[in-house]
Amino acid sequence: MTQLTIAIPKGRLQAKTLDLLSLAGLRLSSETLSSRRLAVEDESGQCRLIFVKPADVIVYVEHGIADCGIVGRDVLLESEPDLLQPLSLNFGACRIVVAATRNPPPNQPEILRVATKYPRTAARHFGSRGVAVELIHLSGSVELASVLGLADCVVDVVETGNTLRENGLKIIEVITDSTARLVVNRASYQLKADVIGQLVRSLEQTMRQASSD
Ligand code: PRP
Repeated sequence: MTQLTIAIPKGRLQAKTLDLLSLAGLRLSSETLSSRRLAVEDESGQCRLIFVKPADVIVYVEHGIADCGIVGRDVLLESEPDLLQPLSLNFGACRIVVAATRNPPPNQPEILRVATKYPRTAARHFGSRGVAVELIHLSGSVELASVLGLADCVVDVVETGNTLRENGLKIIEVITDSTARLVVNRASYQLKADVIGQLVRSLEQTMRQASSD
């Protein structure tokens, strides 16, 4: 019987999440990993992985459909979910920044138009500075909003910096840093204390070994 369901974020964190789980003892066949199935079991049949969009990791874990999941701090800051975060992981490092094209208009507009996938994070950031903003909520390719004049600046995640560079944007301000986190459903943490405790210890040990290599 499946003892634990883990939500895996599709996209930038997916490969490293699966690497870490494999090193921590989860047995996943390459066939399983290369399939398009959205819910798979490991070879022991004790653990089920579900593959969902990063923002939906939180939804599945909060509702207890998944016991735990891996997600970036950027997503957690945006949603502020009611979840436990027992472990910060050693991958997925990025920054949430304010960025704009290299030639912004000379006068700061009265109301700054900010395009972002992170409207709450952006609102908090500019709100704390008393800057009036119009938030333009986009789903992706956020940099384009600044390039094409939809917004005066963007709030977005920067990892390598390539997307900013290749689209002619520069960082104006760093809002905060982010890495991947293990998140756990509150009830699961109590009811499945043994198996979740074991997972946390295995992940910690794997990360310790990796950093001493
Ligand atoms: C993210 C982010 C930037 C890019 C930054 O987008 O929104 O566009 O990655 O990464 P870099 O600094 O390594 O270039 P993502 O790839 O998640 O796709 P999206 O535009 O569809 O959101």
